[in-house]
Amino acid sequence: VSAATATAAVTGIGTALPEQRLTNAELEARVDTSDEWIVERTGIRERRVAAPDETTATLGAAAGAAAIKDAGLVPDQIDLLVLATATPEQPVPSTSAFVQDALGLRGGAFDVGAACAGFVYAMVTASALITTGGVDTALVVGSETLTRIVDPNDRGTVVIFGDGAGAVVLQRSDTDDTGLLAWDLGCDGSAAALLQVRAGGSRLPTSAQTVADGAHWLHMEGREVFRRAVRVVVESSTRTLAKAGATVDDVDWFVPHQANRRIIDAAARRLGVPTEKVVVNVDRYGNTSAASIPLALAEAPLKEGDLVLLSGFGAGMTWASALLRWGER
Ligand SMILES: CC(C)(COP(=O)(O)OP(=O)(O)OC[C@H]1O[C@@H](n2cnc3c(N)ncnc32)[C@H](O)[C@@H]1OP(=O)(O)O)[C@@H](O)C(=O)NCCC(=O)NCCS
Repeated sequence: VSAATATAAVTGIGTALPEQRLTNAELEARVDTSDEWIVERTGIRERRVAAPDETTATLGAAAGAAAIKDAGLVPDQIDLLVLATATPEQPVPSTSAFVQDALGLRGGAFDVGAACAGFVYAMVTASALITTGGVDTALVVGSETLTRIVDPNDRGTVVIFGDGAGAVVLQRSDTDDTGLLAWDLGCDGSAAALLQVRAGGSRLPTSAQTVADGAHWLHMEGREVFRRAVRVVVESSTRTLAKAGATVDDVDWFVPHQANRRIIDAAARRLGVPTEKVVVNVDRYGNTSAASIPLALAEAPLKEGDLVLLSGFGAGMTWASALLRWGER
């Protein structure tokens, strides 16, 4: 398995997590649920919650700074910032503008809105801008504060989502075959209603009525999302492997979006990835949307040359998979 001439290698990785933990026991006291139910249905034991002074941009900037440092670079050497989030700092401007300012970056900066598939979408975008020329070094950030849009009284979502951020530095390399070898992006917009925040945009601007209706909270049809998630992760991962001319046996690590332990296990089983190659941290962070893949990637014991299969899915419904050759860092 090898890539075209120029590649975009991952040369740095960083994360940022709020200190505050929210355990299942604490949730038992707030909504009608139980630790047993949450662990059995989701595999989640605790998640992180942003402090009042923490936001999507502050977490994203902290993860970005850590990734730049890990790459041995300084902010001035970053040509481009691509930030994935479903919980933006505010409607206008983009969250990337705040992160760019906080880090003192120059160059282009924009957001990618592909929900929990956002980090892979953003990596593919940055990678393409690097390999086609014009950009040498890009910072890709996935940052979320889902706890700010989850209805505290909705037991179907409050147990699942958490806050955090992760980032990678991608650098152009003409000499090795590290970086993204193949990818698959998709979206089925007919399923938009399965996971949505209805109010606060063009279709339903914020009003006293939307607030009274709770239309500013995240609404999820959990069972249907679950059913589709397993299918799209398996299909998208399979297409990605085929594009790279690889098989599942070539994969050293499977790093799926951390939505639910049962989705991860079912997808891995159908793909034929053995448990010991599956990276899981959903038990400690819950579903952190666009941050979940970099948070898992950062915890994986990767070594040079490893082949890593990334796969995410989320609101839209979107999905995105990529096969990544881990380089020397
Ligand atoms: C949300 C999810 C955990 C629910 O698990 P499930 O096994 O599908 O459960 P169901 O939705 O079928 O609900 C089963 C019962 O548990 C109840 N329930 C839901 N949340 C509960 C909770 N936190 N605690 C206790 N009971 C709960 C439901 O009300 C339902 O009760 P009923 O049978 O009396 O109506 C699961 O559907 C899921 O993970 N879906 C995917 C979500 C996801 O990945 N979203 C992010 C995409 S990026």
